[in-house]
Amino acid sequence: MKIRAAVLKASPAQAPFAESRPLVIEELDLDPPGPEEVLVRIGAAGLCHSDLSVINGNRPRPVPMVLGHEAAGTVVQVGSAIRDLAPGDRVVMTFQPTCGACLPCAEGRPALCIPGAEANGRGVLMSGDMRLHDGGTDVHHHCGVSAYADHAVVSRHSVVRVDAEDIPFAELALFGCAVQTGVGAVLNTCRVQPGQSVAIVGLGGVGLAALLGAVAAGATEIVAVDLSDDKLALAQELGATRIYNAAKDGLSDRIRADTGGGVDHAVELAGAAPAFELAYRITRRGGQTVTAGLPAPTAEFRLPAVNVVADERTVKGSYMGSCVPQRDIPRFIRMYRAGQLPVDRLLTRTLRLDEINEGFDLLDRGEAIRQVVVFD
Ligand SMILES: NC(=O)c1ccc[n+]([C@@H]2O[C@H](COP(=O)([O-])OP(=O)(O)OC[C@H]3O[C@@H](n4cnc5c(N)ncnc54)[C@H](O)[C@@H]3O)[C@@H](O)[C@H]2O)c1
Ligand SMILES: [Zn+2]
Ligand SMILES: [Zn+2]
Repeated sequence: MKIRAAVLKASPAQAPFAESRPLVIEELDLDPPGPEEVLVRIGAAGLCHSDLSVINGNRPRPVPMVLGHEAAGTVVQVGSAIRDLAPGDRVVMTFQPTCGACLPCAEGRPALCIPGAEANGRGVLMSGDMRLHDGGTDVHHHCGVSAYADHAVVSRHSVVRVDAEDIPFAELALFGCAVQTGVGAVLNTCRVQPGQSVAIVGLGGVGLAALLGAVAAGATEIVAVDLSDDKLALAQELGATRIYNAAKDGLSDRIRADTGGGVDHAVELAGAAPAFELAYRITRRGGQTVTAGLPAPTAEFRLPAVNVVADERTVKGSYMGSCVPQRDIPRFIRMYRAGQLPVDRLLTRTLRLDEINEGFDLLDRGEAIRQVVVFD
């Protein structure tokens, strides 16, 4: 079938993207789904910093590629081997397909699926196939999703069926990345307990979702850090008990003093090495620092080795919020319905597909939380 998609033609691209226009709206050919694949009509697709990192070259991926990995939609057609999904089902996309058979999958850590990560790196579906074509040229898939298009063919293992007829697609899409990554980092990776203290460093869509997770977990001290005063003000409205601008000098000493020696859990969601360093410094003795931002592949951090030992520090990475999507996406939707995760507060605005380059300029300048492309 013919689809309309935003295609990344070349990377890296320079901002402002409204001028360089790295995403080109054009008609592509989309193959029918293979036996274990589904055709989804996209309802909405969010703009995440991980998409921006492919555009600006911080996360190199093969081109041409249709970006967009945070999305929700409606099943249109299922492959011949699929028995547990039907046309009309609503699905949330998950950006790490899972094979169910590799060691991390068998251990219950599907976010680390080895064939899934390999397929994502190559820009192909789990089957190894590419279903997108531009004349004679194959077009790569992004994270097995490629949702900046009115339709997508994805692996059965890239979607989670949800009972959510009443939730607008623009909100449902956010559960695919921002909510899985942010809320999951706090609930699954950190395992925050009621009454504990949490710091969130970096307050984009993912960081603010983590903040909502900290509130839901019953954290009583929630420290929020960002470079933007607007985001700090929103964090305060959403439940942060202390807010700090990261541009200030001597910040780690101040936060340690204000929190009586640092926080139980500090989560970095900025995608910048200095943010990770701050998160480490404001973690208390015996506490844990979790990093979930994705900086450029060349970024490195150094740790004071004796301090890791003598303070019994834990440092952990968190990919896709250490989520089990089949368990956690429906769980987070239930929490949203119960008023425990006001995810709608992360939505800055909706936009049309042909406004997407301008949307990435706003994200690049830190002037939006989550913007979501909606399809009719
Ligand atoms: N681990 C995962 O599975 C996963 C999934 C999705 C996104 N990510 C990554 O998470 C990060 C956040 O994504 P997002 O979409 O929310 O991005 P975003 O651009 O919306 O937000 C990033 C925020 O970090 C702030 N920031 C930058 N440098 C900072 C510093 N030194 N100190 C404090 N704050 C700082 C910015 O002002 C901005 O508000 C990105 O690196 C993204 O690639 C990781
Ligand atoms: Zn994302
Ligand atoms: Zn696997």
